Amino acid sequence: MAKTLVIGANGTVGTELVKLLIAQGHDVRKATSKAVKDPARDVHLNLVSGEGLAQAFAGVSKVFLLCPPGYTNHDELLKPAIDAAKAQGVQKLVLMTAMGANADESAPLRKAEVHLQNSGLAYNIIRPNWFMQNFNTFWIQGILEHGKIFLPLGASKGSFIDARDIAAVAAQLLSKDDFNNRDFDLTGSVALDHDEVAKILSAATGRTITYEDIPPDVLLGGLLQAGLPKPYAEFLLLILSYFKAGYSERTTDAVQTILGRAPGTLEQYARDYRSAWVTAS
Ligand SMILES: NC(=O)c1ccc[n+]([C@@H]2O[C@H](COP(=O)([O-])OP(=O)(O)OC[C@H]3O[C@@H](n4cnc5c(N)ncnc54)[C@H](OP(=O)(O)O)[C@@H]3O)[C@@H](O)[C@H]2O)c1
Repeated sequence: MAKTLVIGANGTVGTELVKLLIAQGHDVRKATSKAVKDPARDVHLNLVSGEGLAQAFAGVSKVFLLCPPGYTNHDELLKPAIDAAKAQGVQKLVLMTAMGANADESAPLRKAEVHLQNSGLAYNIIRPNWFMQNFNTFWIQGILEHGKIFLPLGASKGSFIDARDIAAVAAQLLSKDDFNNRDFDLTGSVALDHDEVAKILSAATGRTITYEDIPPDVLLGGLLQAGLPKPYAEFLLLILSYFKAGYSERTTDAVQTILGRAPGTLEQYARDYRSAWVTAS
């Protein structure tokens, strides 16, 4: 039976995507850059070194592809995977980039998108806005230690999307051909500022969580201290400056169009992930 290869299968979106694809009857192959634990299901693939490209795509008909975080040379990581998909006769590839990736034709992520569009493969490109799940991953330390979301974003708003909706969209696009060769910006249905986010997290957890607007340099220092490579930390600051400038506020109807239902709300996300911010005492 033809397989569906999920790259980033152990990540925030990929974990949910794998569950949905299996439920929908796909024979899923999970790519990992780490040691393979289950050879019947997992395959080793390292997008940075190129190791495992040919084996990972052999016998595969559908592919979900993303660029692992931590890198800024997105095109150099993604183009060989797109070429390997083409060489191995893959039918369709769904690439996840990020909202705003197509704003600059010279951006590495955009170059990867264009490479896919010119590849001759059937494809979709999905560009999610900032994930809700960042509040239980990247930004969690300030919440746990100080009850604060520390970000340099002023009162700007974002139409945060639940990663589970991104996974549901990707699963649908990998299962049906109705939307082939189209790209979609994926957002939640409302834009919220971080005071509003903090209120919603407070209501869900029963804790007092507030937002503190911090200078970009303070965040940069924290990211470097946490061990992020400098070019990637600076890239994060750059895209956060786009958020502050208002580019993350826009909403689209893509989730509704593809799934036939509205995107999940931040209130629902906060209830579902409550345990992340409420430590057992
Ligand atoms: N967070 C946001 O707000 C946001 C918004 C828009 C777009 N995005 C995009 O979303 C993507 C991240 O998605 P995510 O949050 O679901 O992922 P994630 O949770 O950060 O997980 C990263 C995945 O990449 C895999 N990986 C790491 N290094 C790899 C390598 N060298 N070769 C192949 N795979 C590797 C990891 O698996 P192993 O450890 O098993 O290898 C893991 O499955 C990024 O491209 C980011 O730009 C994020």
